[in-house]
Amino acid sequence: MASGLFITFEGIDGSGKSTQARLLHERLSGAGTPAVLTREPGGSPGAEEIRALLLEGAPDRWSPHTEILLFTAARRDHMEKTIEPALNAGKTVICDRFADSTRVYQGVTRGDLRPSVDQLHSLMIGREPDLTFIIDIDPAIGLRRARARKGSEERFEDFGEDMQRRMRAGFLALASEFPDRCRVIDGDRAPGAIADDILAVTRAQPGLDT
Ligand code: TMP
Repeated sequence: MASGLFITFEGIDGSGKSTQARLLHERLSGAGTPAVLTREPGGSPGAEEIRALLLEGAPDRWSPHTEILLFTAARRDHMEKTIEPALNAGKTVICDRFADSTRVYQGVTRGDLRPSVDQLHSLMIGREPDLTFIIDIDPAIGLRRARARKGSEERFEDFGEDMQRRMRAGFLALASEFPDRCRVIDGDRAPGAIADDILAVTRAQPGLDT
């Protein structure tokens, strides 16, 4: 059986990427394409436990190096338990954040750790998505939306606008670094219009079984 498509959604906090991942899942499933919606950190029982370690508690709970190890450990479990079995069964996997988030959040914004992120990725994960949507939004809008959400996952919540700008630049730089798989999508529009664009790009992707 042919492997399914591996699609990821990336962007700064408050970009609307989770909504778009859900809408793509709904639309593909509605059209009869077997698809799995998942997220990082998390997406498998073990990785969800690691998510709680990463996203709850004091901001200085982990050093940047330890954080990279935890994100990569969660990703490895997620790959083994959720992503690879689904792809091998011919399903399309739609993942809300993946390794590009580690490249940007840990590699760019928390010191020059990108080489460590890349080395760990090739050692332990060794796979890139087929298609990555980077939902691009004004950092001030993203920050406003992120701050409006309340919850217990607050460890990374308040980077401030300057950090949001650096992360946005980091995602746009990644889009230039990986032009074959990355598509930058203007996120400052009605969710339905954004979802229409994303569906059109996805349908044009070789290997989608629709
Ligand atoms: P979420 O809000 O999209 O669920 O993501 C949770 C937070 O985790 C978000 O602030 C970004 C952060 N994050 C990283 O710092 N590195 C990573 O590798 C991933 C997947 C998320």
